Amino acid sequence: MIQAQKPEDLKDEFSPLDAAQNAPEDISLDQNLRPAKLADYVGQAAVKNNLSVVMSAAKQRGETLEHILLYGPPGLGKTTLAHIIAREMGANIKVTSGPAIERAGDLASLLTNLEAGDVLFIDEIHRLNKAVEEVLYPAMEDYVLDIILGKGPGARSIRMELPRFTLIGATTRIGLLSSPLRDRFGATYRLEYYEQPELEKIITRSAEILKAKIDAAAAGELAKRSRFTPRIANRLLKRTRDFAQVFGHDTINLTAAQKALDLLEVDSLGLDKNDRRILDVLINKFSGKAVGLNTLAAATGEEEDTITDIHEPFLIRLGLLAKTPKGRQATQGAYQHLGLTPPPSAGQASLL
Ligand SMILES: Nc1ncnc2c1ncn2[C@@H]1O[C@H](COP(=O)(O)OP(=O)(O)OP(=O)(O)O)[C@@H](O)[C@H]1O
Ligand SMILES: [Mg+2]
Repeated sequence: MIQAQKPEDLKDEFSPLDAAQNAPEDISLDQNLRPAKLADYVGQAAVKNNLSVVMSAAKQRGETLEHILLYGPPGLGKTTLAHIIAREMGANIKVTSGPAIERAGDLASLLTNLEAGDVLFIDEIHRLNKAVEEVLYPAMEDYVLDIILGKGPGARSIRMELPRFTLIGATTRIGLLSSPLRDRFGATYRLEYYEQPELEKIITRSAEILKAKIDAAAAGELAKRSRFTPRIANRLLKRTRDFAQVFGHDTINLTAAQKALDLLEVDSLGLDKNDRRILDVLINKFSGKAVGLNTLAAATGEEEDTITDIHEPFLIRLGLLAKTPKGRQATQGAYQHLGLTPPPSAGQASLL
């Protein structure tokens, strides 16, 4: 089954939406830069430590690894980690996604084609439909497939044994997962935004793979503006490399990095046009008052999901946006970042 790709946003030169997702031009880049071993997977110490224990224990007992759910914002390394887990377990991986499994029969054919120990990776698992989910429950729990033959009163169900497999699910929207599905995972790991030194390490490693020379100051600048997200760090590196090449810089230095980032309209904190538009609308159109999600989406022309998945966690993390019971509000920090004087009523940064 072919994994469905998310549509590329062709309108904007650089937007976190397409940067956070797999734009077609970046798929090969993503694959080249994707670490293959747990040791090369930067950061996420808690997740890595936990996973190492769970994997070693399963190997020692000669058992199949329990089902694993990975969640967190786009571009933080869920797909990468799923591939690493399969590799570390010496298992084959079959990749699919929630929207690609349309009917119960699609899932049945995927499951019956698995071999013992295989990893089945379902990306965007929150988008599985109910009929498909119901086939998945007994498969995850008891490694069986219940097939209904016929219709109406004459229908009967037969039960097929499945090989023991590991399901790895990935989602950016854990809240949309039904609780019966969530409960069937043996372990759930949340991927966190990356710290500055981790991003610098990822950028330096990627530059080596791309055979691009970059100095420490430039790597630091790219890391600072990459929304705490490895995929964006890699993307900014690639754009900066193009820029340095065209303008005759042998090494990507701080000046080249700054010029390239300015050209991409990625500001000193890593905000892009759309982040700034959200803050601008909150401050200027709604005079700094708290605004509900649907109103904010309508006023900015963004999808609600894009705001909640991409912009909001990032702006909250930077302390520029606060979520209050009445809605989203720009903080004092947002006013300051945009060079404006905050009114006393401006929101306070909320802790994540
Ligand atoms: N921990 C890491 N160390 C090094 N590079 C990483 C790490 N995590 C992610 N990357 C890089 O970021 C890219 C994006 O990661 P990945 O595709 O795994 O994210 P994702 O969480 O699956 O995103 P999405 O939610 O959009 O599917 C990878 O190709 C890889 O190059
Ligand atoms: Mg992914």
